Amino acid sequence: MEDTILSVRGIKKYFGGLHALNNVSFDLPKGQIMGLMGPNGAGKTTLVNIICGFYKPDEGSIAFEGKDISGFPSHKICRLGIARTYQIPQPFWELTVWQNVLVAGMYGKGISRLEAETEVQKALELTDLSDKKDVHTKHMATISLKRLEVARALATKPKLLLVDEPAAGLNETELPRMLEILSNIRQTGVTIILIEHVMKVMKEAVDTIFVINEGKPIAHGLPDDVMKDEKVIECYLGECD
Ligand SMILES: Nc1ncnc2c1ncn2[C@@H]1O[C@H](COP(=O)(O)OP(=O)(O)OP(=O)(O)O)[C@@H](O)[C@H]1O
Ligand SMILES: [Mg+2]
Repeated sequence: MEDTILSVRGIKKYFGGLHALNNVSFDLPKGQIMGLMGPNGAGKTTLVNIICGFYKPDEGSIAFEGKDISGFPSHKICRLGIARTYQIPQPFWELTVWQNVLVAGMYGKGISRLEAETEVQKALELTDLSDKKDVHTKHMATISLKRLEVARALATKPKLLLVDEPAAGLNETELPRMLEILSNIRQTGVTIILIEHVMKVMKEAVDTIFVINEGKPIAHGLPDDVMKDEKVIECYLGECD
């Protein structure tokens, strides 16, 4: 039987009167890449924020490797092995690539400088950033910043990586390489949740797709089946209630 790394049960989140997540549940098998899709404002980033402990759910629970982590603070969740990237890259702009990734390892994961340096080297190799290690992030293009987000998350030695729209802003040649990077990361044994809007990207990159709309789950299954699902098609045509 497949091992479940993450179990999300009945998650609800309100922002004032807005029901941002409404009864979201799924199980994620270890080693898989699950695509998380939904139109703008569907609740994708909110779900990432809840899994990482940035927000507390109003209802529901989250188990990671069989342990209930609901309500844990984000630094504790990071140290247990869940890392995330930001939709809009948020590096320390005055630091170099190497320094940014090192800080993530040392302070995000709480590992020694020596151990963090080994992780930084591995993370930069996996994300094609080794040759940019001394570049200040304020001088970097979108593609490198997106990769840096991933490298910073990798430096915390995650078992589960949540990647929020890594392909947004990339061109047609940069995109396949980003997908290859994510696939290589998965080969190292990391489970991934990938948020993405572009169906074609999803289809190539993931094992299953989970779709939410206005905070509610509407489909979960193999990419081919999800893309044929009438509710999903309606959502993306803007006709979903
Ligand atoms: N901190 C917050 N305070 C109030 N409302 C919020 C907050 N964060 C998110 N929201 C609202 O919750 C809903 C879901 O937002 P979320 O950012 O999770 O959507 P998303 O699916 O990631 O969208 P996008 O594709 O545009 O990134 C939106 O209506 C958003 O405006
Ligand atoms: Mg978002």
